[in-house]
Amino acid sequence: MFTSEFILDESIIYLNHAAVSPWPRRTADAVTSFARENASIGARNYSAWVETEHAVKAQLSRLINAASVNEIALLKNTSEALSVVAYGLTWMPGDNVVITDQEFPSNRIVWESLAKFGVETRAAGLSGDASPEEAIIACIDTHTRLVSVSSVQYATGLRLDLEKIGAACREHGILFCVDVIQSLGAVGIDVQVCRADFVMADAHKWLMGPEGVALFYCRAEAMDRLELQQYGWHMVEEAGNYDNPAWRLAVTARRFECGSPNMTGIHALNASLSLIHEIGMPAIETRVTENSRYLLDYFSAQGDKFQLITPAGDHRHAGIVTFRSLHEPTEELHERLRKKNVICAPRGGCIRFSPHFYTPREQLDRVLQLLQS
Ligand SMILES: Cc1ncc(COP(=O)(O)O)c(C=O)c1O
Repeated sequence: MFTSEFILDESIIYLNHAAVSPWPRRTADAVTSFARENASIGARNYSAWVETEHAVKAQLSRLINAASVNEIALLKNTSEALSVVAYGLTWMPGDNVVITDQEFPSNRIVWESLAKFGVETRAAGLSGDASPEEAIIACIDTHTRLVSVSSVQYATGLRLDLEKIGAACREHGILFCVDVIQSLGAVGIDVQVCRADFVMADAHKWLMGPEGVALFYCRAEAMDRLELQQYGWHMVEEAGNYDNPAWRLAVTARRFECGSPNMTGIHALNASLSLIHEIGMPAIETRVTENSRYLLDYFSAQGDKFQLITPAGDHRHAGIVTFRSLHEPTEELHERLRKKNVICAPRGGCIRFSPHFYTPREQLDRVLQLLQS
């Protein structure tokens, strides 16, 4: 499927989209041609670059079904976007934030850092008898101001039911923040259906884009809840009018972008997103989950050799499949695979595979054979 779009070296089996994705051919081409343009005519056509910036926002808005493109900002990375939320809200001593005990450090440290304001961070345990959503919702009390979760957990691959958590947040009148870096571009998300207030994702994983340019979605109604921590020319209503000493904040999410955009990253991401939209998220999601299902079934059937970490239920995983060998230490297995040019990641003492929609089935078979040898 769209194999001509991928020019990965044939010797490589790339099962690491949950870390950093290879670029599609068109993304590499877009960066090359942007570099040539910069070198030959500089920013003569800057207005076209701004159009590309708008095109990226429009493509992201469509991808997450935002109510308006005005709810989309482009920031540096997921961690920055989480910090914009955490340090934008006004906290009172005794407030709490609910996260989970499986979060990537970026969605834990920033909340823990609010302890200096008397804010408690509560990590819902996801491995008990209750469903993950029940465990999260059970942590909410009258002092909870916000729930912040990853849509898919980076190490276990557990996929959360965002609709359920979003509905509970709405019921309790609290904010809902979702780090979608491990799902955006792999499986669908609708920010309106799951009632998210803040959503963020860098481009370098399932979106197959570059590092350092990230989606930040802020629901229009939540925009004024965030006090800004950074200021500059780009975030004001009349950006580009340097002669007017008076200014007011942009009414759109551009208010979160204080200065010059990452134009190289934007050109790259624009190309990657165009591929995703051409194929369509339903088709991508089908292929991603078929690939992970194939691996899940394999590890489930080989219980004497491997321990499967990722939940095998149909709606409980996206593109990540994590396992542990019962006979070979993880570090050794990872090194053995790396020597065979199988690119994957050790996470939490286990091996994480993360093939994308275009990963051929025969490559998965080759890797599974290697595991047996
Ligand atoms: C769930 C999750 N959030 C955030 C990040 C890091 O995001 P960034 O580098 O864009 O801040 C990662 C990276 O692995 C991740 O898995």
